[in-house]
Amino acid sequence: MDIVDYLVNEKNLPDEDLLKLIQTDSFDEKLYLSGDSIRRKIYGNSVYIRGLVEFTNYCKNNCYYCGIRCSNTKAIRYRMTTEEILSACDRGHQMGFRTFVLQGGEDPYFTDDRICQIVSEIKAKYPDCAVTLSIGEKSKESYKAYFDAGADRYLLRHESASDEHYKKLHPDDMVLANRKRCLFDLKEIGYQVGAGFMVGSPFQTAEDIVRDLRFLQELDPDMIGIGPFISHKETVFSDYENGSLELTLRLIAILRLMFPHALIPATTALGTIHPLGREYGLKAGANVMMPNLSPKEVREKYLLYDNKICVNEDSSECGDCTRRRVSSVGYQVVTDIGNVKRNIETY
Ligand code: 5AD
Ligand code: FES
Repeated sequence: MDIVDYLVNEKNLPDEDLLKLIQTDSFDEKLYLSGDSIRRKIYGNSVYIRGLVEFTNYCKNNCYYCGIRCSNTKAIRYRMTTEEILSACDRGHQMGFRTFVLQGGEDPYFTDDRICQIVSEIKAKYPDCAVTLSIGEKSKESYKAYFDAGADRYLLRHESASDEHYKKLHPDDMVLANRKRCLFDLKEIGYQVGAGFMVGSPFQTAEDIVRDLRFLQELDPDMIGIGPFISHKETVFSDYENGSLELTLRLIAILRLMFPHALIPATTALGTIHPLGREYGLKAGANVMMPNLSPKEVREKYLLYDNKICVNEDSSECGDCTRRRVSSVGYQVVTDIGNVKRNIETY
């Protein structure tokens, strides 16, 4: 049996076979087709959409790869008001979005009380919607408070499951152990949890990626977000090469085969390194798109990496564009809260 068939049947492979799959950087039709076929067995041709509201670009952290790191003095900082956040959700709701993702840097201005207030206002106004938070590492008490206020999901990429590699991406005040603690706390509280990592980040080896896959098996998240690393000129990694389209696509397919039920987005970073990156991502097994719902005025300020797409569009343009792109490759955007579908047999 060939290695892709084995992965389809067993949802797993020994390290050396995973390494083989990761270490070739070529287009692999069979792998992508298998990813697509498993995804269709569980999610049909539906693509879930999440409206992304980038509500603050203040951040107290200094991750070496990220454009909104605190030491980037060239970044023009902004915070959205509660009214601005609510009106972004309003636009989204009219466009058929039933999940709002509030993403921001780790901004001390947004105390637990403020976050809880915003979450509960959104949930009161849109009881048919899920609220996802993506605001970094917090204490278990804080996570619990947001959950009690109505937050349903939490996205926190683990970034790298190898201690050594994690240290090369982050300053000393950030440690992998705390990141993992956060993810397990979130699960225990009852959130639907998303983890993930960048593909081709500086110093990442194929062995590191295998460690990422093994960590994901241990965590068993509902969502797995991956996208290529893209350099940002005002960071430590300004001169490093971007991650590759091909490896990102291979990993989307591998993730789909290992985690058949997972919600896997075709990310903005994937659409940034190639004009059709997100469409290829869907064809390899991704089933989520996260169009930008942020007001136009703030988009050019939330730059985690250079050349980010959708900076000159507004919400309705991104909504229409997303629908078009999704249907161009044979799938359909659905108006649905878009929960994970566990327990559907794939064979
Ligand atoms: N290139 C690609 N992705 C990045 N992220 C942050 N900086 C970059 C970059 N330069 C990703 C991180 C983070 C998510 C919100 O965006 O993985 O978790
Ligand atoms: Fe924003 Fe296409 S999704 S312009």
